[in-house]
Amino acid sequence: MSTPEPVTVTIDGRDVQVPKGTGLVETALAAGIEIPVFCYEPRLGPAIGACRMCLVEVEGMPKVQAACVLSAQDGMVVSTAQSSSEAAEAQNATLEFILVNHPLDCPVCDKGGECPLQDLTFRWGPGASRMEFPKRTFEKPIPISPTIALDRERCILCYRCTRFSEAVAEDGQLIAENRGAASVIATFQDEPYRAPFSGNIIELCPVGALTSTQYRFEARPWEIQNVPTVCGMCPVGCNIHATTREGKVKRILSRNHPEIDQGWLCDKGRFAYAHVRARDRIADPLKRIGPRRYEDVSWDDALDEVERMLRNAGGRIVTALSGSETVESAYALAKLLRQGLGAHSAVLPEEVEPALDAFRAPLATIGDAEIVVVLGDEPVVERAPIVDLWIRAARRNGAQVLASADGERVRSSERVVLIWSGPGGEALPALAAGLGIADKPGSAAFHLPQTANGRGVADAWAAAGDADPENPEPIGLLIVSGDEAVANPAVRAMAEQAESVLAISMFRTPLIGWTDLVLPGTSYLERDGTYVNLEGRLQRLRRAVIPPGPDELAWLAKLAERFDVELSPYPSQVFAEISAIAYGGLDYGLVGEHASLPPPVEVGDVPKPKAAETAPGQGLRLIPYRPLFSGPAVERVPQLHFQRPGPEVELSPDDAQRLGVSSGQQVHVRSNGTSVELRARVSRDLAPGAVRVPAPHAADLGTHVEVST
Ligand code: SF4
Ligand code: SF4
Ligand code: FES
Repeated sequence: MSTPEPVTVTIDGRDVQVPKGTGLVETALAAGIEIPVFCYEPRLGPAIGACRMCLVEVEGMPKVQAACVLSAQDGMVVSTAQSSSEAAEAQNATLEFILVNHPLDCPVCDKGGECPLQDLTFRWGPGASRMEFPKRTFEKPIPISPTIALDRERCILCYRCTRFSEAVAEDGQLIAENRGAASVIATFQDEPYRAPFSGNIIELCPVGALTSTQYRFEARPWEIQNVPTVCGMCPVGCNIHATTREGKVKRILSRNHPEIDQGWLCDKGRFAYAHVRARDRIADPLKRIGPRRYEDVSWDDALDEVERMLRNAGGRIVTALSGSETVESAYALAKLLRQGLGAHSAVLPEEVEPALDAFRAPLATIGDAEIVVVLGDEPVVERAPIVDLWIRAARRNGAQVLASADGERVRSSERVVLIWSGPGGEALPALAAGLGIADKPGSAAFHLPQTANGRGVADAWAAAGDADPENPEPIGLLIVSGDEAVANPAVRAMAEQAESVLAISMFRTPLIGWTDLVLPGTSYLERDGTYVNLEGRLQRLRRAVIPPGPDELAWLAKLAERFDVELSPYPSQVFAEISAIAYGGLDYGLVGEHASLPPPVEVGDVPKPKAAETAPGQGLRLIPYRPLFSGPAVERVPQLHFQRPGPEVELSPDDAQRLGVSSGQQVHVRSNGTSVELRARVSRDLAPGAVRVPAPHAADLGTHVEVST
């Protein structure tokens, strides 16, 4: 792609050089001049010139012009409101017009204090109103969904929200109803806005028309702190601000990392933070004193008990990890067990493919690709939601999105991105190597893991010592680390075979009856440390709020003293040990607020993929998947329950036609002598011969199923 020629534009008497075609708003910014905007938001696609806030005078043009729809041309002479009285008057009139019906209820509006309309009115607007008639009112607030409220009278019809729905998330659920002065924002057929990225419209709205039901009336801007950290809900690792007030997390906002998330968040990352205040949150260690009875014990007593359990296990210890541990806490646990107790084995949350580091690139590479090949069985949006948005952006930019890497076009393209979503990703490095992706800038290969920090946990475990031996039989002590491991049926099955079980978990409910000792776990919002995202980018977690008890590193360091293992309670020092082995000695302080991605590494020979193991069976292959809106955090946030997938089965169009099934129909799905009734959905992205079912509804089914009406 060639760089456009530079052009010179004069703005308010200042000459500035920018590439031809640069938007006039950005051109002014390059000259250090701000042109105020409401509707303009380049991430939403082409400007629409709806609000007229950006009016400027352009030499040679008859009237004031909307700067947001113009681009830099050589010799252009522009006067903004700072130097042109005509532009200033026009902006003043625009604001007066916008405020004709705007309620000006700033003192009780959630946006007050951080509102572009408020700010621009102070700076550019009329000092007083000339209007004496009553303003328009509506029923309020209108529930757009359980997570979003609309105060319609505050809307200034900038169409940012509808453009996001239509042109970014492509869910088409938010619309402008009626015409002219009667236009209002609404959901399609008044259905709740049920889509994985809906919450972004709250941040996009330049006034207090769209607000979060969780945040409404919870804080004023001068009472809050915004802690820059990283979302810990999936392997994308979106950059976020955790807004806190009086020691509590009140909301999550994006803090745009253009290479990773482009300023978008999914609704799980935005709204599921409320799990930290769940009613069944464990504050003190719990010790079993009867089949289903537990008592609170002090931390000192709990550590005595952990020491006893570790020593009694005779080296037959297995740890099941969640992939939500920080790199530092996973390393600390591994070091304690390996150096303090010798024999030990682990069940890691993910298979990781170090060979993929030869093909790594920022996620933003997907947006500029010519060809995107999406492989694997699971829906991308359920594993790594933001990747789904990047694929949509690529398609809008003209990319071809394919389901197979075969074909000359894929081979000859210089900008090809492979994405593998689901199990079987070990085949990806060989595929990427075969296409020469390492030698094609603008190309990349991504495997979408299941857990937020499975890669970092694997790095930490490897850095802490030799490879683990096979699982001992019988298991003397099973350590279940984190809530995802607690919820894993395979871990529960191991627990039945283990002589004793120690769990580290945030929530009480699922642990009752099968664990002997429980230590309170922490959330990613309560930890300092690092996570490695699916690109292989190391990012900093910063503690936004204090956990109810000591965090993992603090108690692991105390325990380590009892086994003569040297372990620091400080993440920076633990990181320094790991970094020397795994991250090239990178300094903790240099990970930064917007972490950079290390360049691809030479990996040498790429492992040959094993032949895919498909269990033989009669009927349609069952693909169970873990829905985005599921898991311990989502279960504890009632506002998100409407997003959980229902009891449904997805079929390919071919299979649906063959079986005479249509979307919405109830069908019987049978296997292993079990039958479940599910609602059919025909999905074009599913290949014939397979059906997809959300994991909670697939629990009793085998690898192959029969579907009938
Ligand atoms: S609701 Fe907000 S984002 Fe949507 S059109 Fe109105 S002012 Fe703009
Ligand atoms: S896409 Fe993943 S990392 Fe980003 S907000 Fe959602 S859950 Fe968090
Ligand atoms: S910002 Fe230009 S018309 Fe709205």
